[in-house]
Amino acid sequence: MKVLILAMGLIAASPVQAENFSVDIPKLQGEAKQVIMKLASTLGGELKKAKEEGGASAAITVCNTKAQNLTSLVSEASTWDVSRTSLKLRNSDNAPDDWELAVLEQFDSKAKQGANLKTLGFSQVLVDSEGRKIFRMMKAIPVSDQCLACHGTKIKPELKERLEVLYPDDKATGFSIGELRGAFTLKKYL
Ligand code: HEC
Repeated sequence: MKVLILAMGLIAASPVQAENFSVDIPKLQGEAKQVIMKLASTLGGELKKAKEEGGASAAITVCNTKAQNLTSLVSEASTWDVSRTSLKLRNSDNAPDDWELAVLEQFDSKAKQGANLKTLGFSQVLVDSEGRKIFRMMKAIPVSDQCLACHGTKIKPELKERLEVLYPDDKATGFSIGELRGAFTLKKYL
């Protein structure tokens, strides 16, 4: 996709407004943040529920089958296309496109310089080859305590076995708390 950069803004800093360009970037960033918060809490809740009902193995099934269609988990925000991506993928269906890869690499180098991942984000307004404006935003996902069971260094043997069957090319293990796990990535046509 050929894109032309019209305006950009780091979420932490105040956004740069392009001339003659009437997109309300702070408003879009606010909406996107709401979607991410809703999604993060829904995913967390689903994992917790499945774990209580059937152990971590069941939680894997939840993640495997439900996390895929993330947009449907935040259905009232259906104008947003939402997914998760990473430089260290478990599921290759979550692979980043060129724009996402560049942002992830930027997050990764900021993380190595000690940036606070909880507030690390990036957004941009792009125009596709058909002239349609798209707002895109990514938000870093840090590894927390409750991720280690499935993404950490000491994964239980029965879980490990399941993961190896489901994801033979899994690169998303060996993480420690505070590291960059990946990012939420959101898109909205304007
Ligand atoms: C019960 C096991 C389990 C736990 C706990 C878990 N995950 Fe995952 N995670 C998975 C599975 C399975 C996938 C692959 C989902 C899919 O097929 O799209 C995945 C995928 C992801 C992805 C998408 C990118 C990729 O590699 O495919 C991200 C980002 C992610 N997890 C972050 C987290 C974070 C952050 C936490 C902690 C808050 C967490 N996970 C906790 C099992 C888990």
